[in-house]
Amino acid sequence: METEAPVSSRISGTTRVAGVFGYPVGHSLSPLMHAIAYKELGLDWTYVPFSIAPESLEAAVYSIRTLGLIGANVTVPHKSLVIPFLDAIDPDAARIGSVNTIHNDNGILRGYSTDGPGFLDSLVARDVRMEGRTVLVLGAGGSARAIVFALAGSGVSVLLSNRTARRAAELASAVNALFPGSVTVTGWGEPGPSADLIVNTTSLGLGSRAEEKPLLPPGMPHAGQTVYDIIYSPMETNLLSAAKSAGCKVVNGIAMLVHQGVRSISIWSGVPAKDIPADLMEMAVTEELERQCTEV
Ligand code: ATR
Repeated sequence: METEAPVSSRISGTTRVAGVFGYPVGHSLSPLMHAIAYKELGLDWTYVPFSIAPESLEAAVYSIRTLGLIGANVTVPHKSLVIPFLDAIDPDAARIGSVNTIHNDNGILRGYSTDGPGFLDSLVARDVRMEGRTVLVLGAGGSARAIVFALAGSGVSVLLSNRTARRAAELASAVNALFPGSVTVTGWGEPGPSADLIVNTTSLGLGSRAEEKPLLPPGMPHAGQTVYDIIYSPMETNLLSAAKSAGCKVVNGIAMLVHQGVRSISIWSGVPAKDIPADLMEMAVTEELERQCTEV
């Protein structure tokens, strides 16, 4: 049966281009979910993966203007490296030192990070309430930085635990300078205060570390807690399997992937995030990941 090409893949003289700059970028699920959203929103846009070696990043960013791209998402390893090449940086992105969305605003290249807001949106989408709650964040790398700033900024108390305690202390002091008393460091795998939500931002459970899971304080996870792993491949990490067995509510990284994408589309198009079809994007990504699983 012939399937209809999405509007965004029907390239014409008026089609505009967005994309993602990464290295490598071949496994990105963003082209798929963006195409679905553009079609649903009736945007004559298309989304392309661009494999950009670090030494070509400056030229690639410059080309956003030259080629008149709508903008670009930015992924590993460029999220910090891209900052000096932009004209303006959103204060939240500057704070975390990371940009995942560039908007070509009539020739002015503006950098944003939608990771933190996308993470918060994903909690709302999954009906995870945060008011007055405590969150244990595992890890102190780039993803943790975006998430911890976003949580602290929305008034949530954060417990931060990382294998390398110094990195946790540094992140906590940066966040506490802006949101006093919001982050407390706890030892990796050591007993600590209780948490309503546990978020894994470490790479334990990902790729070659798929068999591993982060160290939790004794007695965790337990029923009544929500466990969120920002990893989306595998869709169910060992941490999430253990959490499910313990009776926890679980959320995988598809939620954050989709909602950071929704926020990018919102910046580029001006369409409010609530009107962007996150559910369709999520369905497409989930189906693709399931397909990849059955292929292996
Ligand atoms: P990202 O930008 O995706 O957050 P990152 O900045 O490299 O990636 O951070 C990776 C996180 O995973 C860090 O918190 C790291 O802990 P360290 O600061 O101690 O390196 C954590 N991590 C990676 N491998 C780990 C392991 N084997 N055990 C515990 N934590 C690990």
